[in-house]
Amino acid sequence: MPLVPDHIRLLESYKAGKSIEELRRELGLKKIVKLASNENPLGVSPKALTALKQSLKNVNRYPSPDYYDLRKTLAGLFDVKTDNVFAGHGSEGIISVIMRTFLLDDEEGLTSEGSFITFPIQAQSRGIKLNLAPLKDYRYDLEAIAGRITPKTKVIYLSNPNNPTGNIFTVTEFQKFIKQVPEEVLVILDEAYFEYAKDDPKYPDSMQYRLDNVITLRTFSKCYGLAGVRIGYGFAHETLISNLMKVKLSFEPSGPAQAAGVAALRDTEFLEKTIQLNRQGRMFFYDVFDRMGLQYIKSHANFVMLIFESEQRVNTLYDRLLRKGVIVRPLRAFGLPHCMRVSTGLQEDNEYFATTLEQVL
Ligand SMILES: Cc1ncc(COP(=O)(O)O)c(C=O)c1O
Repeated sequence: MPLVPDHIRLLESYKAGKSIEELRRELGLKKIVKLASNENPLGVSPKALTALKQSLKNVNRYPSPDYYDLRKTLAGLFDVKTDNVFAGHGSEGIISVIMRTFLLDDEEGLTSEGSFITFPIQAQSRGIKLNLAPLKDYRYDLEAIAGRITPKTKVIYLSNPNNPTGNIFTVTEFQKFIKQVPEEVLVILDEAYFEYAKDDPKYPDSMQYRLDNVITLRTFSKCYGLAGVRIGYGFAHETLISNLMKVKLSFEPSGPAQAAGVAALRDTEFLEKTIQLNRQGRMFFYDVFDRMGLQYIKSHANFVMLIFESEQRVNTLYDRLLRKGVIVRPLRAFGLPHCMRVSTGLQEDNEYFATTLEQVL
């Protein structure tokens, strides 16, 4: 078809973790535990849910295009000006606006292998050349990334904690790295799992730095349980934000998403419960994996990555787990075909997964 450019024809679309409904349709199972998409097993923040319901009364009206309440709430919480705040259709949506706003066709993107796949997909959908540094011992190698900066590099994408490895780069590593990044190169610091990592003093919370060429991205999809509503936010220099505001879709994010976001930020109780449950879940997984002699990476997020000897082993285990109603995430699409990612769930789900894993191993 001559209408489709090569870079789109060759693009592989993002494949989400299998859904509960899909597995139920395929296998007709009653009990299904989904630990595949790093969602919040506690559900939605109750305050956000109430706000969402109330907001539905107004869906005949267009939402506020500059989402004033949400920006003001975020600015207050993170001690910045409203002009430093952006929000969008998930952090994924914000990455898309960033790519449309700042990248020219002959400029390049730079990131790591074994990282979140939205950035490479969006770069390719723009026909942008992408430079990928390898992981080192399953960690971001910031030195290798810095070494790959060329005069054409325009955007660097870093996920910290990284999905799917779950680990972080440290304050010291980041400080050394950022000194090597020219000021005309934009760094996207995707902190989708920030809340799970923030208490570790080695974790570089990018809001402590406020560098003019860094955009911090956060999301309501994980610890606030709003993945289905699609709302994420970000912080950056006001010049970057004012230009993003020009390029975003006029009424993004939606009214219900704005309302849910504002209310979720006030629900510190739900946030704390979520962080606590996740901490327990990670510890439980470590114990189980140690007992089974499995290789895994210690995580700062709400999932743990397991390393196996081959892709075939991962696929066999994945299929056997599916047949017993457990959905996890094989990582071929992330460039780690011999690895598998498991999100933390409710304790009973974690236990069901552990028992089932033991059986299928
Ligand atoms: C590192 C990272 N960034 C962004 C996202 C997507 O977040 P959102 O739902 O806000 O688009 C994810 C989701 O898995 C993620 O792992």
